[in-house]
Amino acid sequence: MTPSTTDKIYLVGFMGSGKTTVARALGRRLGWRVIDLDEEIERREGRTISQVFAEHGETYFRKVEREVLLAFLPARHAIVATGGGTFIQAANRADILADGVTVWLDAAFHHIVDRVPSDGRRPLAADREAFAALFEERRAVYRLAHMRLDAQGRVEALVERLLHKLG
Ligand code: S3P
Repeated sequence: MTPSTTDKIYLVGFMGSGKTTVARALGRRLGWRVIDLDEEIERREGRTISQVFAEHGETYFRKVEREVLLAFLPARHAIVATGGGTFIQAANRADILADGVTVWLDAAFHHIVDRVPSDGRRPLAADREAFAALFEERRAVYRLAHMRLDAQGRVEALVERLLHKLG
């Protein structure tokens, strides 16, 4: 599938793959707006994601996540840093793929483990065995993105590689 527009970029990938950092750097480079879905969810809910999970559960979180995604569909000249689970939901995935160029930031699991503490800030990272299984399971879905970008290396170099791929 090819996206209908090239004035919007979605970054998808597992927790700790660098979506937010790359989105900010890319936003500065292109002069585009950066939308971080996790931040927008926290703003809307007035509490942290771990509080949303703890108080309302994952099903509620996914509902809010979808609503926030839909609210930003009209935004153009924008980079969207999704949450690790956003693209996994089939309805979200269809909307994302149709709305902009979707880039999978593919990071190795050992880098992810270093970057994502099991301190409860990311509810799905607390159980390390389940976390590893989720990583494997989700790769098959992230692969459906329009492009794959190796997430290793300095953010500036990564942004240059991405811009080169985008042409
Ligand atoms: C999640 C990833 C998190 C956040 C929530 C659920 C997931 O975002 O949306 O904890 O299902 O992978 P990051 O990928 O930005 O950590």
